[in-house]
Amino acid sequence: MKLRVIDGVDVRGKYVLLRDDFNVQILDGQITDPFRIEQSMPTINMLRNAGARVVIVAHRGRPKGVRNMDFTLKPIADFMQIPLIPDCLDKGFLADMHDGDVVLLENVRFCAGEEKNDPAFAAELARGYDVFVNDAFAVSHRAHASTVGVAEILPSYAGKLLADEIENLTNVMEKPQRPLLSIVAGSKISTKIGVLRALAKLSDTLIIGGALGTTFNFAVGGRVGNSLYEPDQKDTALEILDYAEKNNCRVLLPLDKGVAKVFERDAARVNKDFTEIEDDDVIIDAGEMTTQRDVAEIRRAKTVIWNGTVGMAEWMPTWSFGSFALANAIAEQTRAGKLVSVIGGGDTVAALEACGVKDDITYVSTGGGAFLEFIEGRVLPGIAILEDR
Ligand code: 3PG
Repeated sequence: MKLRVIDGVDVRGKYVLLRDDFNVQILDGQITDPFRIEQSMPTINMLRNAGARVVIVAHRGRPKGVRNMDFTLKPIADFMQIPLIPDCLDKGFLADMHDGDVVLLENVRFCAGEEKNDPAFAAELARGYDVFVNDAFAVSHRAHASTVGVAEILPSYAGKLLADEIENLTNVMEKPQRPLLSIVAGSKISTKIGVLRALAKLSDTLIIGGALGTTFNFAVGGRVGNSLYEPDQKDTALEILDYAEKNNCRVLLPLDKGVAKVFERDAARVNKDFTEIEDDDVIIDAGEMTTQRDVAEIRRAKTVIWNGTVGMAEWMPTWSFGSFALANAIAEQTRAGKLVSVIGGGDTVAALEACGVKDDITYVSTGGGAFLEFIEGRVLPGIAILEDR
């Protein structure tokens, strides 16, 4: 895929509408993980240094087209030390901007036209700007006014972050060094059917873990107790196993689990294999045997793609055991130059951060849903429109 990229375009004195994804978690007014903001900085700095007048458009949460200040971008503007323009359709401030200035528009999802990609709203959003740059890979799977609508109106380009994502994800999918090991976990099969199928086709080995793994264990007749799983997805799980077999992909399901009697952070942990799980047991993490096996698989692999934690990784240290062991093994092999590692998804990236190994990974994607859809091979509308044909 060849994109029109912003590097090298003369933007001096131009009004650039820049789409970033600043959909970050904020607790008590503080940004818990600024990863997406940090990854957006190279494009912002490049535009600023090139003398553009940069106006960033972004969203946070799902305020459903109404002005709900629980979702304001004020903490992000404060973090970045740039002014926040309270109305994303305001044009009054443009005349006062100088070359190299950067401002942030208030949450574009406060406007009903955004998610509907309403053409009148997109035209009004685009008014006053010379160029549109999309650097928001993480929201490029949404055909919204600020990702697609404005790109149909203004000369439009991909930013550095977007171009980097495409390059790194395309490389790992098109020419992975083998053996390729994929690890897919998390809670719901329904959100991961596409990516499971795509990775079953691409990978030599596929590890399925987390609550997703529990659904697969259930499908093949394992005991799951009182755990979170999707009994109605049994056929889907069996169909994916069958598909993997036809594509010569070895699937590894959980062998044992870390369980408790209640789904609570401080609950006492017991390790049980699937034959021992009782009706009132709740699975909260991967088991010791499973983790040992998975770490051995990571050590054998030349490429790892990972999405989804294998337990409640945020409940440290008891329930982060499985996810942290995977994160550490992947980081260790990557540091040693023996592994190419590509990891995406908010919870997984948070686990890397909590382990202190994020910088050791070959490529950490900023995308959650967008990462999954890209790996699935779907066309992301916010990216398709930037293709150089
Ligand atoms: C994300 O956080 O994955 C993106 O910002 C997309 O958010 P959405 O799922 O609310 O569209």
